[in-house]
Amino acid sequence: MTDSLVCLQLRVARKERLAQDIALFELVAPDGGALPLFSAGAHIDVTTPGGYIRQYSLCNDPAESHRYQIAVLRDAQGRGGSRAMHDAVNVGDIVAASVPRNHFPLIPQVHTALLLAGGIGITPLISMAERLSAIRQPFSLHYVARSIDRMAFRDRLAQSSYADKVFLHVDDGPPEQRLDIAGLLQAVHTDVHIYVCGPQGFMDAVLSTAQRYGWPQAQLHHEFFGAAPTRTDADSSFDVQLASSGRVIRVAADQTVTQALATAGVVVPTSCEQGVCGTCLTGVLNGEPDHRDLYLTAEEQAANRQFIPCCSRARSARLVLDL
Ligand code: FES
Repeated sequence: MTDSLVCLQLRVARKERLAQDIALFELVAPDGGALPLFSAGAHIDVTTPGGYIRQYSLCNDPAESHRYQIAVLRDAQGRGGSRAMHDAVNVGDIVAASVPRNHFPLIPQVHTALLLAGGIGITPLISMAERLSAIRQPFSLHYVARSIDRMAFRDRLAQSSYADKVFLHVDDGPPEQRLDIAGLLQAVHTDVHIYVCGPQGFMDAVLSTAQRYGWPQAQLHHEFFGAAPTRTDADSSFDVQLASSGRVIRVAADQTVTQALATAGVVVPTSCEQGVCGTCLTGVLNGEPDHRDLYLTAEEQAANRQFIPCCSRARSARLVLDL
């Protein structure tokens, strides 16, 4: 059983508006006991009303064990998970969640960290800021939002012990305070580790600029929010073969691999079905995957030894899976 399937029952102890369309949920053990520990950058999978499973980064201080805090952006265009959290989850409710998992950890060696947050991407980075401040590791946090009323945690950041390391940037403010990604990256040394989280366009801008200025991939750490692209009109069918039995299963152009496997009676555990959580990670013994997930690193994707069958497809006519 993967950690994502280990279920905690958590009580909503506090629900609070943090900013426009952003709500904070504080989750505790129903008996008030200690929760499994987490490290900065970790997230939990929350089962929302309606059965959607969503990943939310923990945004409280990782030194705390009495609560988990998550901040949820209401996504009017989404599939309903965040709307259900905002509209149907209230103080006193019990929600099911996984134990914390961390795909976005701080690198332990002493180095300077540059934390770059776009929008709701602040959530893992504020937890990192707490940790870096506690261990006296040098860092700065730049937080970009569309407008000041969409900026969560302003009071917490202003009152923190590391307030002098925090720089706020809003898109609708004066030009001189906007984040100049190229200027910022040119001004810091390339031995700095960059941690970036936010919408795809923001992350692409940061990562491509860092690569242009010579940052080694190993010093670029990122976590996407949002779904991986799963299908295009150009998709075609291909075969997957189960290594254990030799059985071959056809994946139609309009099916995901997990759907085709399930139809054939082969169940691969899934959670987000968006290429984000890694629950469905499956070994590849032969063939070339067409990676479309946001879970594996670029190096892991290039190695082609595993893939994410809820969204990734195949470049070769057949993939032999470690199933
Ligand atoms: Fe989450 Fe596949 S189910 S990545």
